[in-house]
Amino acid sequence: MPNIASSAVKVPRSRIRELADIAMKMDHVLKLYFGESNIPTPEYIKRAATKALEEGYTYYTENAGLPGLRQDLADYYRRVQEVDLDPRSEIVVTASGVQALNVTIRCVLNPGDEGLVLTPAWPNAAANIWMDNAVPKEIPLLLRGDHYAVDFDSLEAAVTPRTRLLVYTSPSNPLGWVATEEEQEGLLEFARHHNLWLLADEVYERLYYQGPELGDPAPSILRKTNRDDPVIVAQSFSKTFCMTGWRIGWLVARRDLGEKATQLNEFIISHPASFIQRAAQAALAQGEDELRSMIARLKKNRDFCLAALRQMGGMTVPSPDGAFYLFPRIEGLTDSFAFCRKLLEETHVGLAPGVAFGAGGEGSVRICYAAEKGILEQAMERLARFLSKRLI
Ligand SMILES: Cc1ncc(COP(=O)(O)O)c(C=O)c1O
Repeated sequence: MPNIASSAVKVPRSRIRELADIAMKMDHVLKLYFGESNIPTPEYIKRAATKALEEGYTYYTENAGLPGLRQDLADYYRRVQEVDLDPRSEIVVTASGVQALNVTIRCVLNPGDEGLVLTPAWPNAAANIWMDNAVPKEIPLLLRGDHYAVDFDSLEAAVTPRTRLLVYTSPSNPLGWVATEEEQEGLLEFARHHNLWLLADEVYERLYYQGPELGDPAPSILRKTNRDDPVIVAQSFSKTFCMTGWRIGWLVARRDLGEKATQLNEFIISHPASFIQRAAQAALAQGEDELRSMIARLKKNRDFCLAALRQMGGMTVPSPDGAFYLFPRIEGLTDSFAFCRKLLEETHVGLAPGVAFGAGGEGSVRICYAAEKGILEQAMERLARFLSKRLI
């Protein structure tokens, strides 16, 4: 009997999905375990998709995406990040953020290579490294006071002749950590010095609470780079425009990598659906106002949950500067999956176990606060009661 390839066997199961599978068999669960808001996609985006279908956007497009959408993305970067990009060679439209990770990691790793991943992190980058027959090495961020920070000493110690990639996510899922300017410069210097590709997952770019004005983006690494730097940005419409089910994103990369990713995508997805690319153009053109009101609402949710958790005691709750997660570290907790399972079964509150996010994650739980305020209030109340008689 032929076997499943070892590169596939090595990919671990998602522990978030494992928890969700239990929750989905239950009724009336307060679902805070997935990274998704319950806001539906705005109407103007849905209308743009329908209109595109009527206009005949039902055929193949360029592998890199519609030229108009790539131009709009270049304009977006100029407007939002003050960065100039060449839409023809440095931007590739992908079928989601995770597909951007998949194709770029595929482009830079050879079998047996190593990829450094800053953790705790959404597990998909590490899983993609495994899928390429390469090896992820997780380097935990350090909790200093109430903020996480990059551990440059551990990064230096982890580099070997096989290391070719460093992946980080800012704003971070699950930490809400946002790389400071010094950290961005340090990571870039580190990548240049060791000849590594630096892959920045910036899908939460617009969910940022520390800018001069609410709604300003987290500064992209692209502000620091020149176009010859070995830097890749993975991006998505999912979080910014409430489009998780549409599966559309993009990548920004040095020209040679952009060309290779475009070519490989021919054999993976060819390109995202044409009418959805048109809907993405509408999102970029008209999305700012709704986006800003969503961020204001998320900030209120964040502040509410942060205060509620800190009042419960028995945990350290780092201050998040972006994304829509809190990642409290619960005192004495050694099995976050068992904790989340018991919490789910006893109270119907669904959280993601910290162990799902790799090194440094065990002992914490992730709470997605993108739900309605009423749901968050109930969840915080039940969590407080559960913790007050905690047996785990
Ligand atoms: C850090 C991070 N990157 C990428 C993604 C992928 O987003 P999508 O594949 O929906 O575009 C997610 C989704 O949860 C995420 O949390």
